[in-house]
Amino acid sequence: MQIYRAKDYHDMSRKAANIISAQVIMKPNCVLGLATGSTPIGTYKQLIDWYNKGDLDFSQVVSINLDEYKGLPGDNEQSYRYFMNHNFFDHINIRKDFTFVPNGMEPDSEAACAAHNEVIRRFGGIDLQLLGLGRNGHIGFNEPGESFEKETHCVDLTPSTIEANKRFFEKEEDVPRQAYTMGIKNIMQARKILIIANGEDKADALAKALEGPITPQLPASILQLHNDVTIVADEAALSKLSRY
Ligand code: F6R
Repeated sequence: MQIYRAKDYHDMSRKAANIISAQVIMKPNCVLGLATGSTPIGTYKQLIDWYNKGDLDFSQVVSINLDEYKGLPGDNEQSYRYFMNHNFFDHINIRKDFTFVPNGMEPDSEAACAAHNEVIRRFGGIDLQLLGLGRNGHIGFNEPGESFEKETHCVDLTPSTIEANKRFFEKEEDVPRQAYTMGIKNIMQARKILIIANGEDKADALAKALEGPITPQLPASILQLHNDVTIVADEAALSKLSRY
């Protein structure tokens, strides 16, 4: 496990973008597992910037996102498909038909999840999986208590996640109650994992994930068992790690 300490959000974003660009340069047709949320926005911005300078080429890259709200169409501003297009895909030369986000408009949960697993298999698995970290230690929408065995599945969002996400919606009632998410099994099968975290509110989860017991109660703790994990976090997020 490699931990990079960043000065602040900007520095975290640059360091994370560097790791992703190294992957794209080393393997131009790589499969990137991508995440939404506030944490990766700066990383995507930095990658766009390097793409605009001619330093990066995404024309052969495949991207597969972690999760999507069930019931939101891709043109809904709160959908993760919209987020990815708006914050990343629309600004680089990735083939849109090579970008995969679970289909939130597929009402049949089993079909939606099976299709997402199939995409991961079809492209030979994920080379580099980018992860943000929930304040309760969730990764993707795998909430505390979730089994480590699952592939993509439909989840009921917990009250704390609904609470955390409501800032993006007009009213709390508008926050979808279910989502499709890659499971821990999909995440653990990625060849490399890159976790990014910033801010004091992630410090507890990060310390428990990296140094606490491995338990479904803290889903990210399973990453201790992965053999290629890189963490890029700012000082505030690292502040509760005993080794710092
Ligand atoms: C996003 C995702 C979530 C977020 C996590 C952190 O696709 O799967 O697990 O990574 O909730 O979110 P932020 O970055 O907004 O703090």
